[in-house]
Amino acid sequence: MLILGIETSCDETAAAVVKNGRFVLSNVVSSQTELHAPYGGVVPEVAARDHVKSIVPIVDRALKEAGTDLEKIDAIAVTKGPGLITSLLIGVDTAKSLAYTAGKKIIGLNHLEAHVYASQLQESGGEKPAALKFPLIYLIASGGHTELVLMEDHLKHKTIGATRDDAAGEAFDKVAKLLQLDYPGGPIVAERANSGNSRSYAFPRPMLDQGFEFSFSGLKTDVLRLVKKNKYKFSAPAINNICASFQAAVVDVLVTKTTKAAREHQAEMIVIGGGVSANQLLRNVLNKKTAAELPNTELLIPKVKYSTDNAAMVAALGYYYAREGKFDGWDKLKVEPNLSLG
Ligand code: KG4
Ligand code: ZN
Repeated sequence: MLILGIETSCDETAAAVVKNGRFVLSNVVSSQTELHAPYGGVVPEVAARDHVKSIVPIVDRALKEAGTDLEKIDAIAVTKGPGLITSLLIGVDTAKSLAYTAGKKIIGLNHLEAHVYASQLQESGGEKPAALKFPLIYLIASGGHTELVLMEDHLKHKTIGATRDDAAGEAFDKVAKLLQLDYPGGPIVAERANSGNSRSYAFPRPMLDQGFEFSFSGLKTDVLRLVKKNKYKFSAPAINNICASFQAAVVDVLVTKTTKAAREHQAEMIVIGGGVSANQLLRNVLNKKTAAELPNTELLIPKVKYSTDNAAMVAALGYYYAREGKFDGWDKLKVEPNLSLG
């Protein structure tokens, strides 16, 4: 079954064609990072205009690179939420027009549910990753969300813990801003951390022993306090040390809670997804801790390019909905900017 995926929930315009929920035939992503960089964050109006300009050429490219055309596609899957309303509208309306004119089925999907499918994507000629195994514990850590989710099967998910305030990616982005580093903060803080000492500053591990809920805003406030005390003046090595110490604190909390959840729910598998899952320290520490403490639990980590927003993961999830005949009416499908995982 061939699914065309469309993703425009934030600042990436993306389209992809995926076969049977795993095999990536094409994956086209146009990032708007450079457009938003001067503002130090995503500007919704700028994002929406760029989506309008890019979406049709990107869908055409995804179909062409997959060696197919709209007529041969079985269904169109599109992100309906959560995300920026004006960004979501463009993807959903494009998908609806295409579905209507080509007489195709359409499926509106949850972006957070899609991120988990990034981990089982396979490219032609590439190494074969494992398929999802249930029950699994899924850590979604992105710019807008940080949640631990228990999945008993495809399409069956229950959030067992979420952040009370900032998301992990948001904390990375805010700390980068405090340190006057460029946007987007996550990858830049991670890179600076590579040259720093993670023991330089003793940042707190918020709510480490309190269930599966997260809180990252206090950690950011601690960095703010430090920055103010130093009147925003730091040497390059001091910035590296702050980045390394901050990153270590976030990773410690994420890994401790994820492995604890896997143990408590006797998970067959741990899966991570979302932009923060691109973080190399998170990958390494989770790998080591899972191998040492949970030898019967498999760890599935997406390729870095599938950690951040893309449409292949949307097309992959679309397959599992299509398989069950769960389609939306093209005239009924609506954006849901505040959609949660439930
Ligand atoms: O999933 P994503 O691409 O978009 C959302 O759905 O939010 O996640 C973007 C977030 C940003 O906050 C970005 O700073 C963070 O992921 N991020 C990282 C890294 N790469 C991206 N955070 C830490 N380390 C990274 N290497
Ligand atoms: Zn995302």
